[in-house]
Amino acid sequence: METVVLAYSGGLDTSVLIPWLRERYDLDVVTVTANLGSEQDLPAIREKALRTGAREAFVEDARDQFVQFFCWPALQAGALYEGVYPLGTALARPLIAKLLVDVAHRVGATVVAHGCTGKGNDQVRFDVAVSALDPSLRIIAPVREHRMRRDEELAYAREHSIPMPDDGSSPFSIDENLWGRSIEAGALEDPWMEPPEDAYAWTAAPHEAPDRPQEVEIEFTRGIPVALDGEPLDGVDLIARLNRVAGAHGVGRVDHIENRLIGIKSREVYEAPAAIVLHAAHGEVEKLTLSRDQARFKAKVAAEIADLIYNGLWFSALHQDLAVYVASSQRFVSGTVRVRLYKGTVRVTGRRATHSLYDPSLATYGIGDRFDHRAAEGFIQLFGLPLRTQAHIQWLGRSSEEILRLSAGDAGRVPGSEGRG
Ligand code: ARG
Repeated sequence: METVVLAYSGGLDTSVLIPWLRERYDLDVVTVTANLGSEQDLPAIREKALRTGAREAFVEDARDQFVQFFCWPALQAGALYEGVYPLGTALARPLIAKLLVDVAHRVGATVVAHGCTGKGNDQVRFDVAVSALDPSLRIIAPVREHRMRRDEELAYAREHSIPMPDDGSSPFSIDENLWGRSIEAGALEDPWMEPPEDAYAWTAAPHEAPDRPQEVEIEFTRGIPVALDGEPLDGVDLIARLNRVAGAHGVGRVDHIENRLIGIKSREVYEAPAAIVLHAAHGEVEKLTLSRDQARFKAKVAAEIADLIYNGLWFSALHQDLAVYVASSQRFVSGTVRVRLYKGTVRVTGRRATHSLYDPSLATYGIGDRFDHRAAEGFIQLFGLPLRTQAHIQWLGRSSEEILRLSAGDAGRVPGSEGRG
C-alpha cells in the first residue's frame, strides 16, 4: 500500500479525508499539522488524526520558519494583495507544502493530499508549491475531485464515527496563523451585509474599544521588527503580542471584495492586527530612508510580489529575483516608529531612523536653512522648458479658459465651444 501525506487541520474536511483516502484511493495515511501560531489544541488534533485512522500524525512547529522566511520578507516587500490583504493564508501555504514534502520524503510517501475545494486559491498554492519542491510527488485533492458537500461530509463522518465539529460549529470558513485570520462564507457572502460581530475573534468592535488611545513604539533593523516599546522580542512573540494589543483596540479588520486567481470575485474578511500595524510602521521607516526613486520603484515591486504570493508562486524564480531586490532595499531601513491605536484606527505619530534622509537644514523654514534658493531658479528654467515650448507652439492664441478646460479632460468641446452642456 502506498503512503499519502495529508495536510491535516483537524476540521471536518480533512478529518473525513483520512478514511476516504484509505477506502477510495487505497492509501495509507500520514497526517501533517503545522503550528503557525494559531491557538489550537495541537495534541488533541494529533489524537484525532490517529483515532480517525492515520498511521502516523506529525505536528510541526513551524512558527519561527513562518516568521523568518515568510512574514518578514513579505513585510519588507510591502506585500499587500490589492492594497489591503496582508496575505496570511497565502503565505502559509508554501510553508505547509514544504512540510508535506519533507514528511513525504521522511516516510517514503509518493502522494500528497489536501482538503481544498476547486473554487479557491489554496488548491493552486498547494499544488504549485508541492510540485516546485518535488515534481515527482502525485497530488490529490478529494474534495475538489468529488465535489463533496458539507451534508455529505457530515453523513460520512457519522458513518465512520469521526468526532463532529463541536456543535457551536462556525458558520464561517476560517483559516488562521500569526499573520492573520481569514474569514469567508456564510453571512459574508452578501457584500451588502456588514460582517456580523461573531465573524471576528481577534479584534474588539471599534466602538467598544478602550476610550483611551494607546501608543506603541516599534523598532526595525534592516526592515525587520526587533522590539516593542524598547523591549527586544523574537519575531513570533512580537507578532503575537502586537496581535493582542492592536486587536484590543479594534485595529486590523479588513472587509474586501477580492479577485481570486481562478476568476471569481469573493467577499473576504480579515483580522490582521499585527500585520496591519507593522506594514504601516515599516512603510514609515522607508519614507525616511529610501530615496524618491527607490520608493517609487519599490511600490511596483511590492504589487508584483503581492500578486506572486497570492497566486501561489512563492517558489518561482521571479520571486527569488525580486526577493533579492527587496533585501537589498532594506539596508538602511532601521529606525523606530510610534503608532497610536484608537478605536479601530492605527495612526503614525512619530518616526526616526538611523540613516534618515530627512535633513532639517534643507527642510526648515526657520533658522539654519542651508538650501540654495537661487539654485531653484535655474532648476525651474530647465524643468519648465518642455511646457514653455509647448505653450509657444501648440497653445498659441488659446485663452486661459480653453487651457483650463483642456486640462480637465474636456477635449471634445474645447476650442470655441460656447454651449453649456
Ligand atoms: N482569500 C484568502 C486567500 O485566498 C483567504 C482564504 C481563506 N482560506 C480558507 N480556507 N478559509 O488567501
